[in-house]
Amino acid sequence: MSVNWFPKHMRSSEEVLRKNLKFADVIFEVLDARIPHSSRDPRIDQVIHQKPRIVVLNKCDLSDENSDRAWIEYFKRKGLMALNVNATQGEGIKRLAGTARGMVVAGKSRFKVPKDQKRAVSAMVVGIPNVGKSTIINAVAGKKKARIANKPGVTRVKQRVTTPMGLELLDTPGILWPRDDEKTLLKLAMTGAVKDELLDLESLSISLLEQLTVLAPERLRDVYGVEVAGKESHEILEEVALKRGCIQKNRGIDHLRVSCIVLGDFRKGKLGRITLEMPEDDG
Ligand code: G4P
Repeated sequence: MSVNWFPKHMRSSEEVLRKNLKFADVIFEVLDARIPHSSRDPRIDQVIHQKPRIVVLNKCDLSDENSDRAWIEYFKRKGLMALNVNATQGEGIKRLAGTARGMVVAGKSRFKVPKDQKRAVSAMVVGIPNVGKSTIINAVAGKKKARIANKPGVTRVKQRVTTPMGLELLDTPGILWPRDDEKTLLKLAMTGAVKDELLDLESLSISLLEQLTVLAPERLRDVYGVEVAGKESHEILEEVALKRGCIQKNRGIDHLRVSCIVLGDFRKGKLGRITLEMPEDDG
């Protein structure tokens, strides 16, 4: 599987990010809570240097709670504050704003205190495409929806979204890029961060089922009525197809349809809250 991120945008996105960084007191580094390693730009430390930072584990409505805790501990051990957030429902957003404010205003550790302590603390959201940056900006701003492009073309530097939480956000998020190795791309694809048109959905759903038979076999049984023990993932997929009536006119299995069902159910959380990677997995 090879995914062409937006290559010509990559360099300019970094320039925009670096330009905007100086206007921010604190950075929100947004990760997908289901795949914190895979949704992370490995160059993050070089890009933002010593800026105060909060790691935001977003989409925690879809991730496993115990795993969230393990990740928060992991980042703590690395000296980083991490919080879990569900940006679509606004859960954890107040805590995020309060923590950011506290971090900067209290001037904890190495952080610079804004000269006028009464002014709003300025934050910038950074992360790879589809991790939820615009949803977070809108949630903090108390807005419904204003999609922000995953392209750095819009250089509305210094535009700020003021919020009732003593926090102002730069409205242009910083776009980062994931690694492009096979394993990372697979996880991103499973979570829906890569356009489905670019993917072989059948192999993707089979790889996902391989993980789910380990992580949530009972959910597969409950949701699809399929016994998973001792079966290969492609067999499970075919059994799900039969249960769900994914049969073609020639009576063959409709692999594409059943793959879309399994991937869709996972991405919407219908198979439960599942984290696909843990801190101890290779990062
Ligand atoms: P980006 O700016 O980083 O590119 O991401 P964006 O906010 O556009 O979010 C990408 C997708 O992730 C959107 O779904 C958005 O709704 C979803 N999302 C963001 N935060 C959360 C969250 O906390 N939980 C869940 N479950 N989903 C979240 P979409 O299907 O692309 O669009 P939409 O039609 O749902 O808006």
